[in-house]
Amino acid sequence: MADTYGLTFAREPERVTDTHIIDDAREQALLRRYWYAASYSSALGAGPVSVTILGEDIVIVRLDGELVASRDQCPHRGAPLSGGIVVNHEGGECLRCPYHALHFDGTGAAVHLPGAPGDRLPSRVNLALLPCEERHGIVWVCLDAAPLGDIPAWPAFDRPDVARFQSDLEVWQAMPSRISENFNDLAHLSIIHAATFGDASNTAVPAETLTVSDDGHTITHSVTMPQLDRQTHDGPLVPVRVAYTYVHAMAFSTELCIQYDDVRTEWIQMTATPLTATSALVFQQSARNFDIDGDIAAWREFQITVNGEDRDLLEVLKPKRIAIDGSESGEIALSVDAFTIAYRRLWRQVLGQT
Ligand code: FES
Ligand SMILES: [Fe+2]
Repeated sequence: MADTYGLTFAREPERVTDTHIIDDAREQALLRRYWYAASYSSALGAGPVSVTILGEDIVIVRLDGELVASRDQCPHRGAPLSGGIVVNHEGGECLRCPYHALHFDGTGAAVHLPGAPGDRLPSRVNLALLPCEERHGIVWVCLDAAPLGDIPAWPAFDRPDVARFQSDLEVWQAMPSRISENFNDLAHLSIIHAATFGDASNTAVPAETLTVSDDGHTITHSVTMPQLDRQTHDGPLVPVRVAYTYVHAMAFSTELCIQYDDVRTEWIQMTATPLTATSALVFQQSARNFDIDGDIAAWREFQITVNGEDRDLLEVLKPKRIAIDGSESGEIALSVDAFTIAYRRLWRQVLGQT
């Protein structure tokens, strides 16, 4: 299907085979309060879609151009609303339940029941709507009425002077926090990515600067890293040093800005939506201000290969499930773990405040 940027998505998300819910009630309650990517904007067609976040099924639909999100469960007898259709009712669009055809308008109000057309419907059959917004080509949802923090600011993807693409959605069988930790991890680049861009002859991790925002929602870290790069589109990979700036927004969203030189900049934006305790839906989009007319397909393939290197590793880490702040995990922090140390410390603080 075509997306808003004229690109295509060939693959459907894989089925989730792991159904572990988060067994720590405090952690589950906290995680419900962050924004998560639910869908690429382009994947939202004329009908409702279903997405699972933290084990909860959510339905998202566009009614009269406005996004509406709610539990994917009809308050009447529990039918999945994502199996319904959008219909016109008295001049406005409604989501029609697939079971008894209760009609819900864009405010979540139940406005019509074909089996009792004249009845005044009780307000308790209305849908409770969830915060839902569209930004930078992604539809974001929060399971709580009062979200913690903001949707990540990723304006690079909307710039008119960049080439860009959105990666196919993938389900990774890994904790979303481990996916974030890995995306922000420097010491693995020359090892895990030695076959793509990592400089295997230059493994020492340079010192990085790291700051946590006062509100505790963002971790920013910067470093000048050795890596391999092509100076021309088809040229050989040569060792270079590039400036990386990572901005991580809680819970599981990071933008990496890669500055190759004074002119060439690339942005990689990644967010992991927790499906269950140990599986995540991975969204990633890339933008660059150079090689605008270059081969997007080759760029996309390169990113798929790089992500595959990460995924293969993340899916075999043990234990599969640890506390989000790393407590009692048995893992050992080393000097190269600056981000993960700060990230887990932040989780510990936020959990302590709940
Ligand atoms: S279950 Fe939805 S209308 Fe009855
Ligand atoms: Fe990686």
